[in-house]
Amino acid sequence: MKENIIPHDYQISKTDRNNLNEHNSFLLWFTGLSGSGKSTIANVVEQKLHKKGIKTYILDGDNIRNGINSDLTFTPEDRTENIRRIAEIANLMIDSGIVVLAAFVSPYKKDRENIKNIVKDGNFVEVFINTSIEECERRDVKGLYEKARKGEIKNMTGISAPYEAPENPDIKINTEQETVEQAVSQIIDYITPKLQLNNE
Ligand code: ADX
Repeated sequence: MKENIIPHDYQISKTDRNNLNEHNSFLLWFTGLSGSGKSTIANVVEQKLHKKGIKTYILDGDNIRNGINSDLTFTPEDRTENIRRIAEIANLMIDSGIVVLAAFVSPYKKDRENIKNIVKDGNFVEVFINTSIEECERRDVKGLYEKARKGEIKNMTGISAPYEAPENPDIKINTEQETVEQAVSQIIDYITPKLQLNNE
């Protein structure tokens, strides 16, 4: 089937769109346990970028899983498919000139490695939101850890399913020592040069 699919050669490129927007586009990928603070931090980073006139969009576990990925569960295979689809969506959005912020537990190293193959290495910035399981369980914002302890939720990351922490993330945020503002500054400082057109 694939051999009969011949992509059309469109004239407007990613570079053209980036030039029009006056900034580069890439993917900021937030990984960490449920309740670690990924969405909170991504939300503030997006507001800061938006204020600077940067075109952004957030892809988030809870909203994507209600829509395009509503057919997927939390088995290892479905999580792999979840991340693969999100990476493909992010890839299109990068091509369209947008800075994509993606907040997903993404517990498996091989799935996160695969994102780099899809969006290309240079377009991928891995942000590890490093919050311990003890702290996430203490916060239990959504009440999911309590349910997992009672056996009402299966395959709960950190309780009954693994989380493989990144060994060499581009940015590591220790939320138990840093404030949200400090975390956001760390991220903005890292990506500012990457946003500049002459830095491609
Ligand atoms: S991922 O592992 O496939 O990357 P994703 O980020 O899309 O997960 O979704 C995680 C969100 O789903 C969590 O923030 C939590 O609110 C909810 N959730 C429900 N069940 C589980 C579970 N078994 N493990 C982890 N998160 C779960």
